Amino acid sequence: PLTLLLVAALAYLLGSIPFGIVMARLFGLGDLRKVGSGNIGATNVLRTGNKPAAFLTLLGDAGKGGAAVLLARALVGEDAAQLAGLMAFLGHCFPVFLRFHGGKGVATFLGTLLALSFPLGLAACLMWAATAAVARISSLAALVAAISAPVWALWLQPSGTVFCIGLAALIFYRHKANIRRIREGTEPKIGQK
Ligand code: G3P
Repeated sequence: PLTLLLVAALAYLLGSIPFGIVMARLFGLGDLRKVGSGNIGATNVLRTGNKPAAFLTLLGDAGKGGAAVLLARALVGEDAAQLAGLMAFLGHCFPVFLRFHGGKGVATFLGTLLALSFPLGLAACLMWAATAAVARISSLAALVAAISAPVWALWLQPSGTVFCIGLAALIFYRHKANIRRIREGTEPKIGQK
């Protein structure tokens, strides 16, 4: 139980690292909070026009979710994997380093899924990519990937279904403003300022 608690805390701290903020600072892109949607994710880093910074943000935010799951699996076992994924996701959305004002959790969700079950993670990523290819809207792609994840889980990894429902619900909640803009037709296309 002590190891489990430590792994959960570590996963939360790992998830709390805001790679968007880190990359924006490293690449001299200014205050990400004043760009576009004000979000700390890769989509918003891309609005600065810096593709490498956006790509590294995506890699970091997804990677920390995957790393938390793999770490828990190695240190405690499969039982701790989902908890670690959840904690990393919560860390991204409510990071201690940003006074709990974090991101929307999409990349971190996909990273945890890839580590929990590669086929399930891949299915969610493909849903994101297919929607993004057609609609060119990152938030819409995220919502489609999130809502489809529990359905894919039922088929590919039934033990992950509740996990997917919980995280998808939080992803929807974090996208309230995006959903409003999508309905109004004012949500910007990927890469648009
Ligand atoms: O990952 C977040 C994405 O779905 C939306 O980001 O900046 O358009 O609100 P943003």
